[in-house]
Order: sequence, then structure tokens, then C-alpha cells
Amino acid sequence: MAKQKNIQSVLHEERKFAPPAAFARKANLKSKDLDALYARAANDYVGFWSDLAREEIVWQRPFTRELDDTEAPNFRWFTDGFLNVSYNCLDVHLAERGDKTAIIFEGEPGDTRRISYRELHGQVCQFANVLKQQGVNKGDRVVIYMPLIPEAVIAMQACARIGAVHSVVFGGFSAHSLADRINDAGARLLITADGGWRGGHSVELKAAADKALEAGCPTIERVIVYRRTGRPCVMRSGRDSWWHELAAGQRIQCEPEWVDAEHPLYLLYTSGSTGKPKGIQHASAGYLLQTKLTSRWVFDLKDDDVFWCTADVGWVTGHSYVAYGPLAAGTTLLMYEGAPTYPDGGRFWKICQEHGVTILYTAPTAIRALMRLGDEVPKKYDLSRLRLLGSVGEPINPEAWMWYHRVIGAGRCPIVDTWWQTETGAIMMTPVPGVTATKPGSCTRPLPGIFADIVDDEGRSVNKVGAGGYLVIKRPWPSMLRTIWGDNERYLNTYWEKFHNRFYVAGDSAHRDADGYYWIMGRIDDVLNVAGHRLGTMEIESALVAHVHVAEAAVVGRQHEIKGESVFAYVVLNKARPQGAAADALADELRRWVADQLSPIARPDDIHFTDNLPKTRSGKIMRRLLRALARGEAITQDVSTLENPAILEQLRGAKHSPSAAPAKKATPKAKVKAARKPPRKTAVKKRPAKPARRGESKRR
Ligand code: WT7
Repeated sequence: MAKQKNIQSVLHEERKFAPPAAFARKANLKSKDLDALYARAANDYVGFWSDLAREEIVWQRPFTRELDDTEAPNFRWFTDGFLNVSYNCLDVHLAERGDKTAIIFEGEPGDTRRISYRELHGQVCQFANVLKQQGVNKGDRVVIYMPLIPEAVIAMQACARIGAVHSVVFGGFSAHSLADRINDAGARLLITADGGWRGGHSVELKAAADKALEAGCPTIERVIVYRRTGRPCVMRSGRDSWWHELAAGQRIQCEPEWVDAEHPLYLLYTSGSTGKPKGIQHASAGYLLQTKLTSRWVFDLKDDDVFWCTADVGWVTGHSYVAYGPLAAGTTLLMYEGAPTYPDGGRFWKICQEHGVTILYTAPTAIRALMRLGDEVPKKYDLSRLRLLGSVGEPINPEAWMWYHRVIGAGRCPIVDTWWQTETGAIMMTPVPGVTATKPGSCTRPLPGIFADIVDDEGRSVNKVGAGGYLVIKRPWPSMLRTIWGDNERYLNTYWEKFHNRFYVAGDSAHRDADGYYWIMGRIDDVLNVAGHRLGTMEIESALVAHVHVAEAAVVGRQHEIKGESVFAYVVLNKARPQGAAADALADELRRWVADQLSPIARPDDIHFTDNLPKTRSGKIMRRLLRALARGEAITQDVSTLENPAILEQLRGAKHSPSAAPAKKATPKAKVKAARKPPRKTAVKKRPAKPARRGESKRR
């Protein structure tokens, strides 16, 4: 177990932005409201959440039990209450805003649809009736493998309506990954589509689904196929049916199935890593409560907003801030099916302009990709309706933050950098847009009711400014994961064992500045140890990206004879890749730059220029893969989720910089030392007899 005591922060970010006065004046949460919430939560956090649960959720039977910690850390909330999540997202709006647009949809080919709350309610009910007629019962698992179209949300909501447990598998995953997830969940039914549009091509989902089922998914009895592309697709009789044919015969009313508060709402397998995926299990009431509240608190949702969260429903962001939270809050949400740069780099901005998007919530990887195309692209569009911007999924480097702020937000829109995880269900740390002054790169502070802290290896709070440690959550919260599906042992080991069940271990390292703001330094396994100094890879990446010629960077550690570990940087430029002497000169310049920006200890020994970085389909850099490449090790991991497989060759072919001390030259003694070095892991101490899986990105 690596000691985290001495993680050092070397990223100095001094800029601070107060919430624009015009925004603050109209904000849902004002400073005094927020103070009152913090005070109430500090005083009695169980009462705080329970009062909110009584106010925000329509219960069929009210709860009397608030927090049940008898089997901690398997916490349960509001256990004896009964509710239905779909009822709380749809039926509750019919009287007052039945005709309000719930979903504005734009397909990649340019087709658009607007669906009112009343229509959405009808379609969800109708499809819920289809599911029942197909023999799906309360508690059955249903896998959804669809493009990012309204029917994906309809399918999720329909499951919730009848108490079935959905497990959405991202449409970019391979047949193999789909089969794994179906089998782990023991799903009875699969909902898919003939295909979907992405980057000008049709993604053949049904063909992949067939392949998965052929590989062996014995629990699947029926397959429902939505027609999206209209391209030919093979239907197997007795097993496959068309969505539209089944729906045609069903009523548009469906009495909700009232379930208890803890009834599982969904499973979501965590992405990116090798090994057996973890089915993160969420419960109904607590999840609904916090996704609804955070939608209103963090995104400041108003009745006339058009809220666009660009995440696919295959990720937790697409669950909490597409399929559930905004609907529970009665918002108009926008869904776009396709790639951000199709047919050109202006697509996102064109959508914002045409549909009057007021709130945009996206990921740093998308922001950096769009930033790379230059300011002229967004400047061609009218983005004046935008009033709030959000970021999620990874630390946003100050460079990208500033671009988002200046070019997209025209300096007028607050940016909410939201830290949370699949496991936390809802946003945990973020600026509150009308109240919190922001700093580029910081997710600022925990929301009311969230008791985060940074602790050292012994679990003691780290209070020294800039000193890093483990990010932990010290009290349960309603939208927390309940367990890992079928493997509670792993739940306990992964998140709780490290500090003897006292705190939830997020697996990230972080530090706090003098204002008490949190700065995420990356996953614990992305921490480098250079000459006894612990450095977060993200900070070095941020420094690199701040250089005028750098578009993107990924930093990994590589064994070093003297320093223990050296910094190895893969760098994507915003200009053509230099060769020979020009490459050496630029590499030198970047080394000096990082030494200058951060610290000489952070200076990369190796710099490889590449046209692209290996990423999962969700846009996460596959660091584990890069680490293996940097160290000249064999690649043992599954590369089937790689977005751009061709890049592997280029990365392999890249020549090491002259200054690098190749791992092979290590003295026998150093080699032994390196081999003995315990794997840099966080929460999981005991693991099954399997090779250590140090997540290639941020995931375990
Ligand atoms: C991990 C969780 C949260 C939904 C999407 C990702 C990283 C997430 C931030 C942020 C710095 C962030 C963390 C976290 N992360 N948001 N605003 N700043 N890091 O969900 O796939 O479960 O990943 O993403 O490392 O642990 P996920």
C-alpha cells in the first residue's frame, strides 16, 4: 500500500471568479439558503435528508424509518416508504405542465422531435405494458443496449414503472462486453435497436446483440428491437420482436408498481477497466431524491430552461442528469444522438443555437477536442442563450476551463465543475452557481449533506493546505450505491475496508487549498512517486496542456533507476507532429515548461508526440495501457473498448527521448526493488487470485 501522506500539490491556480451578479440575483439557491442548508445538515444530517425526502418525493406510503444503519456499511434510507420513480418523474407533472416539452431530440442525420410530458408519460406507460406482456416482473433485470434516442429513456422509465431493474449497456461496447454484463445481471430481456447514427455511420447494435446472444446468454428469453436506422436487420422468430409492433396493441395508461424505497432501480456496470465489471446497484428513493435536488441546486433549473447534458445513457451521467433528475425536476431536456464533430466541429454550437440551450453539461474531453478546433468555430454561432456551463467526468485542466468560460460562456456563465462517481449516484462536490466563487480546475466544495474529507493512510484528516490524501465521504448519503450486484464482499473491500468501515473511500486523491476548496488530483493509482515526491498525473497533464502547442496530454509513471519513477508524457499537439531535431527541441521546451509551471520534480523525462491518445468509448484515457507501453511491458488488457485501435501502432513505434533511462538498463538491484514494490492500490487490499488490476484510467 502506497503511503499517501506526502502527496504534493504543485499546481498553482490563483484565478478566482465570483458568480456574475445577474446570475446570482435570480439563482434558485442564494447564499443565505445555502448557509441554512449547511447548518441544518451539520446539525442533523439524517433529519436533513429525511425532511427533503418528505417534501420532494410523492410517496404512496410515507416512511417512518429514516436511516437504517444496522448493517452498515450497507446503509438503507427511508425503508418502510413506498413510491414509484417513474410516477415521480412523469405523473406528478401532468396537471401543471402536461403540455410542456419534456424532451427535444435531435438525431445525428438532423431529424428532430419534441415530446411533451403528457406524450412521454403515454409512451412510457405503453412500453411498460409491453414489458409486462413480455413477462417481465418486478425485480427482473432488463438490459438496454440502445443509441442515445428518447426510446432509451422511455425504456428506462418503463422499467422503473413496473419495478424491473434496468442495466443500460453503452452502445459503443462490444458484443463481448454486452454478453458479460447480461450474464452477470442474469437479465431476462434485452432491448436494443437496429442501429444508431454516430459519426456518419450506422452503429449496428442488433448485429452486435445477436453476436452477444450467440456467444451464450442463457437467461435472455426475449429481445425487443426499436427501428431507428431502418437498415436491414435479421429478426429471429420466437425471440425477437419489433418495438412498434408490440407497442401498437398496448394502452397508454399503466398503473405504477409501488415499490419500497430500497427496491433496486438499476444496475450500472463501471466502465473502462479490465477484469470483471462491477454492477453498481442503486436504490429507488434515495437516488430519486438526490438526482432531483442536485438538478435544481447545481443546474439552477427554471421553468423555461433547455438543459443539455451531452452524456450517453450508457453512463451514470446519462442516468442521473438525462433519464431521471431533470425529469423529476420538470425540465425540458435536450438529447442529441451523434458525434460532437459531425458533420463538422460546429455541431454542438449549432444545436445550442437552434434549440436555445440555456445550460450545457459536458465532459472535459469534449471541451478539449472542441477547443482544439479553434475559437472561430463556436464564434460562428449564437450562444447567447447559454447561462450556465457544467463539466464532469475527470479533472478539467485550467486551460480548458478558461476556454469554456471565455469562448463558450462569453465570460457570463458560471461553470459548475461537478465531482461525483457512478457509485455516488448524484453530484457530491461542485460550486453552487449563484453563490460559490469558482477557480479553474477545482470542484470547490461538498454540497449540503455531503461530508467529504481528505485523510492520510491512518485515516486522519489532512488539514495542511496543499497536502494531498485520500478523498473520503464520512457519512452515508441517500443516493449512494447499495452494493455491487452479486458481490457484497467486493463492495465492502473496494469502498470500506481501507478505513475499517468508517469512511467511504472514493479512490481519488485530492488536496484542499486555503479556502477549503477541493482539488482532485486523479485516481490514487494515477499518483506517481518521483524521487520520493508524490505527484498527481493530472497536474502534470494540466501544465502540459497549458502550453500553446499542446492539445492533450497523458502522463504515466515509468520505473527509473534513481528516482524510483519518472514522468512519461504522451503529448498530442495542435499542429503537425514534429520529427527529428524539431521534435527534440520541442520536447526540451516542454520539459522546461513543466519544470517552470509546476516544479522541476514534475519534469517529464520522456515525451512522446502522438496524433491521438488511446481512449475508452466514454472518452477516458487508458492510462494502464499507456503505462504498459511506456514500460515496454506486454499488453495484457482487453483493448476491445478502445475508441481508436489504430493508435496502438503509433504509440508502440514512438521512439524514446534520448534523456530517458530505459527500464532495461536498471541495475539488478533496482529491478528487484521495483518488482517488490507493492502495487499502488487504494481500497482493495485483498483481491481474488488474479493479476492486479490497476485501472488503466480512473477506474479500479
Ligand atoms: C471518477 C468517477 C461522475 C460521472 C462521470 C464519471 C473522476 C468525475 C470529476 C471532476 C475531477 C472527476 C474521478 C471519479 N471525476 N468528475 N469534476 N473532477 N475528477 O463517473 O466513471 O464513475 O468516474 O471520475 O476520478 O472518481 P465514473
